Amino acid sequence: MDLSMNESPFPPVPAVLDAVREAAARLQRYPDFRSAELVAALAKHLDVPDGGLVLGPGSAGLTQLLIQALDPGRDEIVHPALSFEGYPLMAANLRNRSVAVPLDGLTHDLDAMAAAVTGRTRCVLLCNPNNPTGAALSHAEITAFLARIPDDVVVIIDEAYREYVTAGDYADGLALHREHDNVCVVRTFSKAHGLAALRVGYAVVPPRIAGPARMAGVLFYPGGLAQVAALACLEPGVLDECARRCARLVGVRDRLAAALAAAGLPVAPSQTNFLWLPLGTGSDAFARRCADAGILVRAFPEVGVRVTVGDEAGNERLLAVARAG
Ligand SMILES: Cc1ncc(COP(=O)(O)O)c(C=O)c1O
Repeated sequence: MDLSMNESPFPPVPAVLDAVREAAARLQRYPDFRSAELVAALAKHLDVPDGGLVLGPGSAGLTQLLIQALDPGRDEIVHPALSFEGYPLMAANLRNRSVAVPLDGLTHDLDAMAAAVTGRTRCVLLCNPNNPTGAALSHAEITAFLARIPDDVVVIIDEAYREYVTAGDYADGLALHREHDNVCVVRTFSKAHGLAALRVGYAVVPPRIAGPARMAGVLFYPGGLAQVAALACLEPGVLDECARRCARLVGVRDRLAAALAAAGLPVAPSQTNFLWLPLGTGSDAFARRCADAGILVRAFPEVGVRVTVGDEAGNERLLAVARAG
């Protein structure tokens, strides 16, 4: 049972699966290399111009392409740590220096991140809400942060888990993008929409970045089935079902968090589809006990363990390990 990857416990909505099955009969055809239908549907859904939308091979791959499109004369990428493990890998792939700024407790240390920006900064990455700690930044926090960042330094806000957020003051990345010429917002169909196997990510970016980003890296993605599936996700009935599922999962998450806490584990508040257990030196031992019970979790040695909110059987098995501890 894999509770280590932050995947959705739900398979895609039936209408999405039907669209993929139907499109699978035409696998001999190349996909539209401009993804025109998907771009148009996203532009309408988000109320943004087509020109500022960039699609990518998952939001992680897309983030790397966005960075690649930025000033190659700058070679430092400022990002939070603990955060998404992909960020330092992107920096390494681009032969850039990863400037990892430690969290302030469970959340970004925005003061320290602003202070880490120099003339060599290629971009700043914000993970909102943050993987693995589950904390979300507010609109006021990011607004104040942006006021301290030079206009020529691009800030990329990674909203991979935005569909699970219930915090009323959650930063509206698209509004920040509209207000600031240096803000990009990156999202994914992998998590709440359950399309991880097809990997489609999209970004809303300033026009000057969109062209170079489309030309960066490998050409011709997403594949045909990925386009069809993502397009089907944007149908109103499917969006409603996705929102209902996210709300259901948030309820399951909160009950699981309370039960884990009642079993004596430290549990951080979460705005995502996973829970962060800051177990410190006990992290490896807990992960091993989970593995013995047939559950994969993500251990960050000496710091904590991230567990994805799974289906009922997975959550029960995890709770049994916690209670046995
Ligand atoms: C914060 C964050 N961003 C991006 C991704 C990658 O998503 P995708 O499947 O769209 O590449 C993940 C996946 O775990 C993630 O946690």
